[in-house]
Amino acid sequence: MSNYNVVVIGSGPGGYIAAIRCAQLGFKTAIVEKYDVLGGTCTNVGCIPSKALLDSSEHYHNAEKAFAEHGINTTGLSIDFKKMIDRRGNVVKQNNEGIAYLMKKNKIDVITGTASFVTKNKISVAVGKGEKTEIESDKFIIATGSKPTKLPFIEIDKKRIITSTEALVLNEVPKHLIIIGGGVIGVELGSVYQRLGAKVTVIEFLDKIVATMDEDISREMLRFLRKDGMEFLLSHKVTGAVVNGNEVTVSAENKNGEKIEIKGDYCLVAVGRAPYTTGLGLENAGVKLDEKGRIEVDGNLQTNVPGIYAIGDVIKGAMLAHKAEEEGAFVAETMAGQKPHIHYNMIPGVAYTWPEAASVGANEQDLKKNGVAYKSGKFPFRALGRARASGDLDGFVKVLAAKDTDEILGVHIVGARAADLIIEGVVAMEYRASAEDISRMSHPHPTYTEAFKEACLIATDNRALNM
Ligand code: FAD
Ligand code: NAI
Repeated sequence: MSNYNVVVIGSGPGGYIAAIRCAQLGFKTAIVEKYDVLGGTCTNVGCIPSKALLDSSEHYHNAEKAFAEHGINTTGLSIDFKKMIDRRGNVVKQNNEGIAYLMKKNKIDVITGTASFVTKNKISVAVGKGEKTEIESDKFIIATGSKPTKLPFIEIDKKRIITSTEALVLNEVPKHLIIIGGGVIGVELGSVYQRLGAKVTVIEFLDKIVATMDEDISREMLRFLRKDGMEFLLSHKVTGAVVNGNEVTVSAENKNGEKIEIKGDYCLVAVGRAPYTTGLGLENAGVKLDEKGRIEVDGNLQTNVPGIYAIGDVIKGAMLAHKAEEEGAFVAETMAGQKPHIHYNMIPGVAYTWPEAASVGANEQDLKKNGVAYKSGKFPFRALGRARASGDLDGFVKVLAAKDTDEILGVHIVGARAADLIIEGVVAMEYRASAEDISRMSHPHPTYTEAFKEACLIATDNRALNM
């Protein structure tokens, strides 16, 4: 007889949400986590600590650069970096404790140790030095997440050449931080250290940053990050990085093969993340991987082995915490015989720079590529009373709508509070609203949300009221 109805492997946002939903639906549930804290990448070395440092560094940046304009004197301003890093740790700890509380509340057994499949119904968990325990379950949910991708020609010593994990717990603010990769981690952690006084140079292979976003957004982000002092070397492929004492030398070449060398005191490698299945013993259960090393799943997120499901960063799709969470709930409900659905096209993406950038649905380059007839409405924040009051004038809301039906197909925002504003786009698209529907809804004044309404007015009928 099995010990459990469901065992979840991994306690990141995918795993712990899956466990809670399974317990809510009446399954006897356990969660296995190899670290002694719960929450996975997101809570411990991802979303939460990076946002803690982004918020702290943004406070400093505003105090240094923006307060004077508001009539606030900040003479004697300084940074206690150790305190900033310690605060980050406390924020993480509160989240760890919150998840542990949720496990207890939902009567989910937490097993600390590394899980490895023995058969398709049994895992062995390495719980201590050489100690193992075996657990049987009717069903398993694999939620083992991802790890930073390595470049084969660069050795990450975790001291001078680092990943995002080490970048979140440095002992000092770098003098010159060289970042390989202008993706989301590059621009977020680059912003943190640039605001705290480091020179930051981002070397990106492509001719743009945050390439998954709408091109207008990525251009605007490049403009304001450069304005703040971050340096970007686009269309440069990094070919090596070596440490010599406290110095790192990074070599790169451009499209014409011209070589450059840059010296700094730290180099952050942020070239993507790879699914993590090491030591999981998938071969013992017969679970297949796809060509990119991700666990292969069907439309129900079930692997090729009936009863074994996989969710989050370890399968295909965007590597985002909220995508993993949706999949966690989806699998639990599917197991319970319900018919849940995930609109993958409506999972928003956010970059927590300042101003923030956020997107949902189709971007303009995709619509063009797919030959979709569309109209576009773009409204700048600087035309809003709210933006003038706060002084956050950068950015815009761009709404893309179908040319014939006016249905909203994509929303792209760069500007103050974009991360929170994007949900209006998600709701609109989930309910298949037209741009006109939104433009006829009252938006509170003065708020940034008015930019969304105005962008819809422009998309519908080119009739902005405030521009
Ligand atoms: P993970 O969170 O990676 O959790 C997997 C867990 O499984 C880990 O705890 C691991 O220890 C455990 N595990 C692995 N193998 C085993 C095993 N054999 N036995 C037992 N346990 C095992 N996403 C956002 O949406 N918003 C953000 O702001 C954001 N910021 C980020 C910032 C950074 C710096 C990074 C690196 C990532 C960020 N992400 C963000 C991405 C987000 O962290 C991931 O998409 C998310 O954590 C994936 O969740 P998951 O549950 O699939 O896996
Ligand atoms: P990424 O995929 O976003 O960006 C990596 C960048 O590195 C790409 O633009 C790529 O062209 C570039 N690159 C690759 N090899 C290179 C080379 N040799 N030289 C120069 N450039 C090179 O990956 P990133 O930033 O590491 O983030 C990983 C994932 O973590 C993201 O895809 C995202 O899903 C998640 N994340 C999400 C956040 C959020 O939601 N706010 C924040 C941080 C991470």
